[in-house]
Amino acid sequence: MNPLAEELNRQIESQSPDAYALLSARGRALYFPKGILSQTAEAREKAHRFNATIGEATEGDGPMALPSVLSHIQGIAPADALRYAPAAGKPELRRVWREKQLEENPAMRDCKFGNPIVTSAITHGLSLVGDLFLDPGDRILLPDKLWGNYRLIYEVRLGARIDTFNTYTESGFDVAALREALANGPEKTMLLLNFPNNPTGYMPTRDEVLGMRDAVLEAAEAGKRVLVVTDDAYFGLIYEDEAIKESPFGLLSGIHPRVLTVKLDGATKELFVWGLRCGFLTYGAPPAVDADVLLNALEKKIMGAIRGGVSNSPQLSQSLVLAALQSDQVGAEREEKFNILKSRAQKVREVVYREKYSPSWDVYPFNAGYFMCIRVKGVDAEDLRIHLLERYGVGLISIGKTDIRVAFSCLEEVDVEPLFEVVHETIRELQAREARS
Ligand SMILES: Cc1ncc(COP(=O)(O)O)c(C=O)c1O
Repeated sequence: MNPLAEELNRQIESQSPDAYALLSARGRALYFPKGILSQTAEAREKAHRFNATIGEATEGDGPMALPSVLSHIQGIAPADALRYAPAAGKPELRRVWREKQLEENPAMRDCKFGNPIVTSAITHGLSLVGDLFLDPGDRILLPDKLWGNYRLIYEVRLGARIDTFNTYTESGFDVAALREALANGPEKTMLLLNFPNNPTGYMPTRDEVLGMRDAVLEAAEAGKRVLVVTDDAYFGLIYEDEAIKESPFGLLSGIHPRVLTVKLDGATKELFVWGLRCGFLTYGAPPAVDADVLLNALEKKIMGAIRGGVSNSPQLSQSLVLAALQSDQVGAEREEKFNILKSRAQKVREVVYREKYSPSWDVYPFNAGYFMCIRVKGVDAEDLRIHLLERYGVGLISIGKTDIRVAFSCLEEVDVEPLFEVVHETIRELQAREARS
């Protein structure tokens, strides 16, 4: 084991033996190298005559650049567009994102959490978490309505094992199912909570989040170690008053020495910049001897995982996101887009529960995000999807045998009613065919 990794392990274990126990073998071996990076950082401060340390090409005071690239980038300085960003991200962006998190998540003000670390969006953050904490065979616990990519990230790439529990009761989130799944599980669980949810578009109530917290706390008190990861990809897109407006992260952080939390959020969906690939990974500290030492050591391990994977996240994307966050207009602009999505969600609510559709589907609870899901009756969801696509040119997503996901985020409001009408007609057609055969 590299001595730098040993030193980080020592720091983590001395502050929180449970956080140390949650690390995977790979997580224990990770460290952030001093070599070239720290020598470059030292030279940046002290090399007044010649600085020949950086793995970039320079000319004059700036990076070497091609006009055919730079001519397309306006309002961002060449260095902020083209140079490598630090492994943990641009310091100013990290500071501004942290302020945003605090402003939008009141419960985070009461907990000790690290500086957000920039990732190449949330998918990358999810896989970094796996790198640090999952050994083959480790258990990830999720509600059974889940984003399919978790299987690739954790099962296929890392050999971990996804376990699910029932997501909804008649009235909302199934807290009892979560409690039971935690209580009956192994010593170590990574609990992955994604709200607003993909595929259902559900955001829990505050009471449901407090129920989740109690369930995690009970498991920890019974001796289990729980890594709670919140995937907040659709943060902020919450359309109904009964749903909690903030991430569950703050309410689940700092609750017990055996519970470590990680928040994954990002500009991808919050600022409508999917392809810029800019996200953040933030640790919430368990009660620890010195939380700063613990958070700093965990941050260094993530930086090592970034360095050994993508090296660093795109500078231009980070500069664009920072510029947007610092603009006076960004709040109003986000609100305008939010209102468009909210009207679409409300239109869906107005249409989808109509009595005449009850022979065709049930509706999973939804109040947030991009999506909603129906459970279709008397037809196979994949047959329905193919029929809709080939016969009527309508593209939806089928999940399993019964569920159809509708992304109302990319439907104009006027298209909502005709869409559900054609889905209903097609279900009737397929039901009739089934009855004849
Ligand atoms: C639940 C969930 N998490 C994460 C992501 C990926 O987000 P990003 O584009 O930031 O990697 C998605 C995107 O579809 C998602 O639905």
